[in-house]
Amino acid sequence: MNQKIILVTGASDGIGKETAKTLASQGHTVILHGRNKQKTEAVFNEIRRETGNQNVSMLIADFLSLAEVRRFAMQIRQQFDHLDVLINNAGAQFTERRETTNKGYEKTMTINVFVPLLLTTLLLDVLKKSPSARVVTVSSASHAMSGKPFLDDIELKQNYTMSRAYALSKLYVIWMMRHFVKEMQQAGVRSITFNSVHPASAPTSLGREATKSLKWRIIYFLWKPIMISVAKGASSSIRAAVAPELEGVTGKYFGPKGEEKVNEKYYSVENEEIVWKYCQEVIRPYLG
Ligand SMILES: NC(=O)c1ccc[n+]([C@@H]2O[C@H](COP(=O)([O-])OP(=O)(O)OC[C@H]3O[C@@H](n4cnc5c(N)ncnc54)[C@H](OP(=O)(O)O)[C@@H]3O)[C@@H](O)[C@H]2O)c1
Repeated sequence: MNQKIILVTGASDGIGKETAKTLASQGHTVILHGRNKQKTEAVFNEIRRETGNQNVSMLIADFLSLAEVRRFAMQIRQQFDHLDVLINNAGAQFTERRETTNKGYEKTMTINVFVPLLLTTLLLDVLKKSPSARVVTVSSASHAMSGKPFLDDIELKQNYTMSRAYALSKLYVIWMMRHFVKEMQQAGVRSITFNSVHPASAPTSLGREATKSLKWRIIYFLWKPIMISVAKGASSSIRAAVAPELEGVTGKYFGPKGEEKVNEKYYSVENEEIVWKYCQEVIRPYLG
């Protein structure tokens, strides 16, 4: 089997942890990202112990800070001469009250859109050094329930609700990954693929903030019977990361049962361009 160097963000819990553990058990070199050192170290030890794979390492960064994302990317660039797979898995939902980072960015858009875009951009150099690299970004089936995007209010200053922010962030990140395909084609780079995935609905800690409210505790409780296992949920990311039959496949969207259609109701080249330009303005200070 072709062993790869794979970075999994948000590998300290849920789908990211399951993804990292399976890829480590397949013999790949796996870099675990987490934000909490103690929690990530426990996962790091568990994966090494259970898989017997010693080519597992860990790095810490809080993705609510774009400066930390930059520092984290620089560490990867220093420690690894190339990267075969980047799995943008870290993601979050917040509460019904709009929250911002200490730089004033809306938190859901930050973790679910700005960070994958910034991290992918900062790691392009090491991805280009792989003969065949893959960027896999974890979106959500809920992108289809976003409702109409507010393209003059991307960070939802006037129009925030928790579910709208989450669903729109997962729609925008699919658009951003497809935009990367065009950017790379224009730059003549054919060795990197960009696909988005969704894990269906799996019982993880994703609702930890939302379920502080009774309304969302009830919604999560009612949702439980239709959830699939975390392992099944992670299968979308794992397949997109390493399946030989997906070699060279780019710009697609996969779920646990295979390729799916993105909801294109609100898609247009112009809308994608608006979001891309907005995000570029946000990440620009962290690129150079
Ligand atoms: N579970 C589902 O049903 C479902 C459905 C659709 C899409 N998704 C997507 O799947 C991905 C994984 O989510 P999950 O369900 O596995 O949730 P999870 O159990 O909450 O795991 C999320 C991971 O992201 C990390 N993370 C959260 N905030 C972070 C921050 N500020 N900085 C750095 N890392 C941070 C978490 O770290 P800690 O361990 O420190 O919290 C954890 O490792 C997300 O992109 C999510 O949107 C999940």
